[in-house]
Amino acid sequence: MTTINILYASTEGNTKSFIEKLAVIAESTGDEFHARLIGDETEYANEEQPYVAFVPTYLTGGTGIGPEVKEIFTNALGEYISFGNNADYLKGVVGSGNRNFNVQFNLTAIRYGNKFGVPMIAAYELRGSKFDAEKIYNKIKPYFGE
Ligand SMILES: Cc1cc2nc3c(=O)[nH]c(=O)nc-3n(C[C@H](O)[C@H](O)[C@H](O)COP(=O)(O)O)c2cc1C
Repeated sequence: MTTINILYASTEGNTKSFIEKLAVIAESTGDEFHARLIGDETEYANEEQPYVAFVPTYLTGGTGIGPEVKEIFTNALGEYISFGNNADYLKGVVGSGNRNFNVQFNLTAIRYGNKFGVPMIAAYELRGSKFDAEKIYNKIKPYFGE
């Protein structure tokens, strides 16, 4: 049995829906599964177990991938990861977005991976499919050991 810990941001519910798909898989495989939504109201706490962060992409300003593009809505998650030693427990990032944003697709997860020095493990679009959920579940599980 593996214990999987996830912290995630979700403004419109797509990421939450994807996390629920992962929870169903965890149930069927007998893994322990903990997922916590991090938003503006979340109090900072010290993480003590490894976790993977799931972050959708919300960017505004600019037209491409330059520094003028600013993160919106997901900042609370980035700040939470930066708090105390929380970044030490971050194993990787799974991102999402909408491919209509072209070069900006999934850019927040790519930025988090670079900022925190962890892999951007996988990306999916919007709510993701059951197939995406199975694929990504199998990709994150090894980060939590056996
Ligand atoms: C204002 C706004 C800006 C967005 N910017 C991007 C973007 O730059 N790149 C991208 O891939 N998706 C972008 N998206 C799409 C969201 O990342 C996508 O809808 C995601 O599934 C939302 O997740 P959530 O429902 O969990 O909040 C944007 C959506 C909105 C509403």
